[in-house]
Amino acid sequence: HEPDPSLFVIFGATGDLSRRKILPALWQLHAQGFTKQGLYVLGVTRDDNIEDDAFRQITLEAVRGADPNADAAALQEWVSKYVYFQDVDEDYAPLVERITALEQEHSLPGNRTFYLSLPPGAFPPTVEKLGAVGLNHGPGWTRLVIEKPFGRDLASARALNDLVHRCFDESQIYRIDHYLGKETVQNLIVFRFANAMFESLWDRDRIESVTITVAEELGVEKRAGYYESAGALRDMVQSHLTQLLTLVAMDVPSGLDAAAIRAEKIKVLRSIRPISPEDAVLGQYEPGQIDGKDVAGYREEPGVAPDSRTETFAALTLHLENWRWQGVPFYLRTGKRMPRRLTEIEIKFRRAPVWMFRSVVADELHRNTLLVTLQPNEGFSLFFDVKAPGEPFRLRRLPLHFSYDEEFAVLPEAYQTLILDLLLGDQTLFVHADEVETSWALYAPLLDGRRAVYPYPAGTWGPIEAELISSRAPLPGDGSA
Ligand code: BG6
Repeated sequence: HEPDPSLFVIFGATGDLSRRKILPALWQLHAQGFTKQGLYVLGVTRDDNIEDDAFRQITLEAVRGADPNADAAALQEWVSKYVYFQDVDEDYAPLVERITALEQEHSLPGNRTFYLSLPPGAFPPTVEKLGAVGLNHGPGWTRLVIEKPFGRDLASARALNDLVHRCFDESQIYRIDHYLGKETVQNLIVFRFANAMFESLWDRDRIESVTITVAEELGVEKRAGYYESAGALRDMVQSHLTQLLTLVAMDVPSGLDAAAIRAEKIKVLRSIRPISPEDAVLGQYEPGQIDGKDVAGYREEPGVAPDSRTETFAALTLHLENWRWQGVPFYLRTGKRMPRRLTEIEIKFRRAPVWMFRSVVADELHRNTLLVTLQPNEGFSLFFDVKAPGEPFRLRRLPLHFSYDEEFAVLPEAYQTLILDLLLGDQTLFVHADEVETSWALYAPLLDGRRAVYPYPAGTWGPIEAELISSRAPLPGDGSA
């Protein structure tokens, strides 16, 4: 079905995220006919020197930047009919007036989205001010979107949840983790629960380990202001990697609705054993080379303290204490300035109970492995041992392969998917208050800033120390020996 007619209010509308992701996604939804009932965009910032026309120009440029082939006439028409601007400072009364006027002008029923595309420090005052002028409830539905990071530790996430819950009901709140909007991430649900073949293998009896890797080639770019106080644990692990883990590990939900799926994800998070210090290795990139080009070390990046201890790499082993996963290590690793961009989930199955090919090849490397690649080259491969033709007996490890590229023309952008769900009122791909808090609680022991941060040259897969935790023998009692 189609989204209701509504007003889409973006706070921080001229900022980087809005230009790169939100405005282009809104245009795509319009161009693809999802907003026929009427979707009006109201950009809000504190800049008081721009007006509707200037914001329309910003929107045009943002969309063209993301989609150079956008139909020029249609785009122009969308922008001039559906896009507006309002400045706000301390007082939101003028905003209320503007919203009411636009709703009257376009006969809108009062459905409103407030999208906070703001730096984290601006979330609390904005939420409070929305509540103070009564914008937390309107004549139709009201939805609040909050970008990550949601808090910077358990205490701040709780405080933010408390504050938001004072003005908004959980059913109105959409916490974004853009990984959940990626087509390949959603496919994990289909892959697992539409294909009975894998679900019966999806447990400690058949799976030896799970490795989730999110490697980036990019460094900190121009985001030191934020990243210096975040680091890889807060920026990537607490959110994106943990979300991937819950989707891989969760039990079969009772349905596809948000409540059913979120309940299973929360159960996974609650089953994770507290992380012990030897199960985590942090790193920071030093100068190095990527694709034959010299790149600076983290401490030389603009805006980074010369003695910064912010981690740009994290590797951890998590242990899930439940019937399905007891004894199966989940290895999580992520880093900036790795040799290439790669997001993948490797499910390694246990070896055959008796290895009959010992005389041909040692058993160690030979495991059936399912490799789900989320980016780039979205798809998956299932590796088998096959007999190479001829004599003597030789084994080759070869994949059965599925690639999105070969089957489907375009994958929608994560933000497009998430904004459409938001307009439809579907919270499945958004993060619940309990998920955020449970996840922060889990990483709390690592966030005190006192842990060793090992250097690694840019263009490598992280510090040597991290190798140790991925190849470590199973712990006694893990049941996998
Ligand atoms: C963001 C992080 O949430 O995700 C960035 O703040 C990171 O540091 C980005 O680069 C990675 O997203 P993607 O979609 O490019 O894998």
